[in-house]
Amino acid sequence: MKRHKIVLIPGDGIGPEVADEVKRILDSAGAKIEWVERYAGQAALDMGSDVMPPETLEAIEHIGVALKGPCTTPVGKGFSSVNVQLRKKLNLYAAVRPVRSLPGVSTRFENVDLVIVRENTEGLYSGIENEVTPGVVMSMKVSTEKACTRIARWAFRYATHRQRRKITVLHKANIMKLTDGLFIGCAQNIHKNEYPNIDYQELIIDAGCMKIVQDPSLFDVLLLENLYGDVISDLCAGLVGGLGVVPGANIGERKAVFEAVHGSAPDIAGKGVANPLALLMSSVMMLNHIADTREDPGAREIAHNIRKAYDKTLEDGHKTRDLGGNLGTTEFADAIIERLNKHAGIS
Ligand code: NAI
Repeated sequence: MKRHKIVLIPGDGIGPEVADEVKRILDSAGAKIEWVERYAGQAALDMGSDVMPPETLEAIEHIGVALKGPCTTPVGKGFSSVNVQLRKKLNLYAAVRPVRSLPGVSTRFENVDLVIVRENTEGLYSGIENEVTPGVVMSMKVSTEKACTRIARWAFRYATHRQRRKITVLHKANIMKLTDGLFIGCAQNIHKNEYPNIDYQELIIDAGCMKIVQDPSLFDVLLLENLYGDVISDLCAGLVGGLGVVPGANIGERKAVFEAVHGSAPDIAGKGVANPLALLMSSVMMLNHIADTREDPGAREIAHNIRKAYDKTLEDGHKTRDLGGNLGTTEFADAIIERLNKHAGIS
């Protein structure tokens, strides 16, 4: 593998704990990465910086790839989400979150293999809220033809490249006739005019949720606007073992930030029990992205080895507590490294 500069934002809560283990595993796998550490959110505030320091944005703009831990957002008060700010400021318009069943992790379903594609820049996440008069507040849902078309085209292109068979749009256009109506209208256009060979389906999201939890095998790629994508990501995480095992990427033009779906998990932060797998899986997505965009097949090989090692670790019954095991964050990472070394004949 070539040597690559990557921005690392450790994040808040369990972020630094899981990021440390992911760095250690990547290093053991032979990934040659020069980490450029930058901060955002509460961690940045604690260091006396802005909540979203310009040098963090500049580093991602300049280097093009970042691995990010979760950042805490205060509920009902305080600063607006730095996660959302980052996606908007860098125009990381496509969030992609693969959800798959894992060996050794038994859940209600086997063979779940879904990909969530979420529009990442608008909808109710525009954060345009105001108090009309005391006791009356409102929040504005923004949908633009440009962003709806862009995400639909991205999802169909992704589905084509990954040999996926079907795209399902989950929406509420029966109630939000203009905003969600625009979203499905743009998806219909892209399907009809550019990708007629991919199956296309629309479902009203409430019934869609019921169908997903009844039989996830009915679905392949899910395409959603921002808020629905956020909620459905956690719902789908529940199908395969929880938030500890679902990775993600936020992709824009020539920039990508890889982060787990989970948040900073304040309930377990500092206890050494967080599952590092979701961030590790995100780093595997990152290595594959590097292989594609920086022409480095060595990065893909390392991604493949890491994936094999964590699958084997789970298969052998080594798990963190969220998956019903008893390993701490570091012990679980040790078990993965042991398997990586065995694979490389270093045991
Ligand atoms: P959360 O994802 O942090 O936690 C939900 C539940 O899942 C908790 O019980 C937690 O212990 C568990 N969990 C999450 N990740 C885990 C892991 N890796 N290993 C084991 N258990 C894990 O969601 P919550 O509590 O709603 O949010 C906490 C904070 O995180 C909030 O400030 C929120 O705004 C922020 N957040 C940040 C995100 C990001 O940076 N992209 C995404 C989601 C939430």
